[in-house]
Amino acid sequence: MSDGGPAVRRLADWDREHLLSLADKFGSPLYVTDLQRVRENCSRLQSAFPDAHVSYAVKAHTGRAVLEAVRETGIDAECAAAGEVERALDAGFPGDRIRYTAVNPPAADLDHVVSRWEEHPEMTVTVGAADTIDRLRGRGFDGRLCLRANPGVGAGHHEKVTTGGHAKFGIPIDRVPDIAADVRDEFDLVGVHAHAGSGISGNDLSAHRELVRRMGDLAREVGDLEFVDVGGGFGVPYRDDEPPLDLDAVADATREALGETDAQLAIEPGRYVVADAGVLLSRVNTVKETPETTVVGIDAGMTTLLRPAMYDAYHAISNLSRPDAEAVPTIVAGPVCETSDVFADGRPLARPERGDVLALGNAGAYGYEMASTYNSRPRPAEVVLDGSDARVARRRETLDDVTLLERTASETIPN
Ligand code: LLP
Repeated sequence: MSDGGPAVRRLADWDREHLLSLADKFGSPLYVTDLQRVRENCSRLQSAFPDAHVSYAVKAHTGRAVLEAVRETGIDAECAAAGEVERALDAGFPGDRIRYTAVNPPAADLDHVVSRWEEHPEMTVTVGAADTIDRLRGRGFDGRLCLRANPGVGAGHHEKVTTGGHAKFGIPIDRVPDIAADVRDEFDLVGVHAHAGSGISGNDLSAHRELVRRMGDLAREVGDLEFVDVGGGFGVPYRDDEPPLDLDAVADATREALGETDAQLAIEPGRYVVADAGVLLSRVNTVKETPETTVVGIDAGMTTLLRPAMYDAYHAISNLSRPDAEAVPTIVAGPVCETSDVFADGRPLARPERGDVLALGNAGAYGYEMASTYNSRPRPAEVVLDGSDARVARRRETLDDVTLLERTASETIPN
């Protein structure tokens, strides 16, 4: 196993010349993902939580190369949809290393997952509603079942990703013991689960502690469980002046809050594994001076990296082409005609010129995954780095790809 590397990789830690050469060779916008950093992040999680069962929430980045790198470290896969289960299997995760967490699962997802479970009966299915148990029963599922509780407490970097106390997620915690007792004979009840939200900050672990404390109580009350899963959500520093999360402190707080239980602690981070393993490269196409600022138009937009538009998320930006130029205040904006299509407003940036290559940091988590073809804009390419090797992991989409569904529409069977 590789060593854990530094606690954070900042944008300035990337090799500037190498990134510039990648933009030249593979074009822009371009996601760059470093598998070695993925391995380091896995390794630090394993060191901080040596007794825990660790899964990677694959929704943060489902690229096959990333899934394979994670699998090789021994970390398992937590999947949020049938498609993610498929991709985990495809990347070589055996069924006993896959946990599927159903959130209001569409019928097609349950059909698919149950048929895959028939081939891989060691797969675990987590449900957040008694109703989902009925639907699984109706499909003949009687395998490893985990109950997701709504612990009544949540946390996260934005209200849109704070799941813990929201009625949408999980079975109200005080109903879980009765449901557990009901399903025991019929299913293999293996665990209880909760997830506070995404982007938990090290500054305030009180919500995390409270969630874990409630889950420890629940695990003791239900009894005879293989694991108690307290979710993911470990934050990463997006701003240069933010310190990295102290994983050992989180691990200590988690163990202390959980208390004595026979059930094994389980965690399922996504962002932590991939965020600082990825950058987005984008080229400046327009520079416009206004009385107040310099507007820097780049070829990536909210269709490439949605997080700033959706959550007001901060991503560090640097002008790779001009490391020594004087910094000027800028608005960095994409090509979409929406005010939300702005990556930064008032951000000092080495005075950009048309053709310069900018890098946006911490783009490895929920970056490519949330890209879209809005404005009929093809999705970007992704290159993965592994040591000195750089290869295209996802080719750039073309306009032909974007219109393919229309051109082949007549082949579709009506639903
Ligand atoms: N487990 C469950 C049940 C989850 O729903 C999630 C994330 C995770 C684990 C992993 O959370 P993480 O460790 O990555 O924070 N698109 C948003 C984040 C959405 C997270 C949704 N659930 C963003 O870009 O910030």
